[in-house]
Amino acid sequence: MNTEDMLQEAERILRLNDKGHYTVPTHGLYPFQWNWDSCLTALGQFRLSPDRAWTEVETLMAHQWPDGMVPHIVFHERDEGYFPGPDVWQTGRPTPTSGITQPPVLGMVLEQLFLRENPDHRSESRCRSLVQAAARWHDWFYRCRDPQGTGVVALLHPWESGRDNSCDWDDALAQVPTEGISPYQRKDITHVDASQRPTAFEYDRYVALLECFRALKWDNTRLHDASPFQVVDPGFNAILIHSELALSRLAERLGDKALAHRLSERAARSIEAMDTLWHADLKQYACLNRRTGQRVNSASVGGLLPLLVLPQGHEHVADLSGRLADWLDKAPFGVCSMDPLDKRFDGKRYWRGPSWLIVNFLLITGLRQCGQTELAHRVVQASLQCIQKSGCSEYYHPMTGEALGGGTFTWTAAMVIEFLSMDDSQALLSA
Ligand code: DGY
Repeated sequence: MNTEDMLQEAERILRLNDKGHYTVPTHGLYPFQWNWDSCLTALGQFRLSPDRAWTEVETLMAHQWPDGMVPHIVFHERDEGYFPGPDVWQTGRPTPTSGITQPPVLGMVLEQLFLRENPDHRSESRCRSLVQAAARWHDWFYRCRDPQGTGVVALLHPWESGRDNSCDWDDALAQVPTEGISPYQRKDITHVDASQRPTAFEYDRYVALLECFRALKWDNTRLHDASPFQVVDPGFNAILIHSELALSRLAERLGDKALAHRLSERAARSIEAMDTLWHADLKQYACLNRRTGQRVNSASVGGLLPLLVLPQGHEHVADLSGRLADWLDKAPFGVCSMDPLDKRFDGKRYWRGPSWLIVNFLLITGLRQCGQTELAHRVVQASLQCIQKSGCSEYYHPMTGEALGGGTFTWTAAMVIEFLSMDDSQALLSA
C-alpha cells in the first residue's frame, strides 16, 4: 500500500463508521460512541471536515453528567451485540451512558482543532463552550478521584484507563471480590477471537466493579472511597495534565485568564505529584495501588506516557526514551503495550503486548515536546508499517505487524491521517 492508498483507505473507514454526529469505533464489536475514541477520531476528521470534527466532540460533551463526569460510552442506539449494555449499567441518564470515564484527551484535541483552523474563520464560540465543559470534567477528576488532594487521580475500573487488561491492574484486580455477581454473557468474543481479548477472570471483576458502583447509584461522592479497586496510573495522569495545560493555553487565547491561571497552577502541582510515581528499578514510571499503598512492579507503556508532560532536559527523559527505543528494537511494529521481556507479555492479547496507533501518537507528541525527534520519527514509521502490512486494525502484534482485534477501526484510520500529515512521513516510508 502506498501513502495515497493508505490515506484513501483511512478516509473510507472514517466514512464507513460515521453515524452523522458521532462515530462508532467499529461496527459489531463497539456499536456506540466511546469517549477517547471519539476525541482522537476528531483529529483525523478535521482533515476531511472541520465542522464534522467539532460536532464529534460536541456530541460527546452533550452527554456530560451534571457532576462534570464525561462517560466512557454513550449508547445512542439500541444494539444487542455488546455487553454490558445500558440495561446493565442503569445510570438513569436521558440518553443511556456508562457510569465510568476514560482518558481525558479532549483538552489536547480541542487545542489542535483550534490551532488548525484558519485564524480568520475560527469556531471560537464552539471552542469556548467546549473548553468550559472540559474544565468542569477536569474539576470532577480532582474532586472525585483525588478526594485527599494528593495531586494525582485514581482509576476505579480498568476500563477507565482505556488499557483494559494491562498487566498493571493484575494485583489490584485480583483483590476485587466477585461473590454474588449476576450471571452474564460476553459478546466481545463472538466478534473477536478470545485469545486476543481479556480473560474470564478479568471480566468477572469488571462486572463486579460495575455492580458495586451501580449499588451506590453511581454517586461519585461515594465511589472513590468505596471502590475495591483504586489505582493511580502515571499514563492516565500524564494525559490529564497534558490536556490541562492545553486547556489552560486555550483559555488564555480565548481571554479567560482566570481559568488559564487556575489550570496551569493545578497542572504544575500534578506534575510534581506524578513524579513521585517514578520507579527507580524499572527506570520508568509505574502505578501505585492506592488501596494498599503499594507500588506496582509492572513496566507497561503507561509508564512511558509521562513524556507528554516532561520538559526538555528533564532527568527522566533519557531513561524513558532509552526504554522506548529498546522495545522498538525488540518489536518493530509500534510501541509494545507491555515490556516485551516481562514474562506476562502476550503479543496478541489486547493491552498485554500489542501496539496501538493512538498510544504511538501520544508518545510521538511527548517525544517531540521533549526534543526526541529522531525517536519520534521511528515511531511514525513503525506505525505506518503496521498499516502497510495489515490495514487499519484495532491493534497489532508488535513483532509481526499482524492485524488484531476489530477491523476497519476508526481511531486507527484517524491516526493514519495524522501521521501522513506529519512532514516526515513520506520520506520515512520511502527510506
Ligand atoms: C470493551 O468493551 O472492551 C471496552 O474496551 C470497554 O470500554
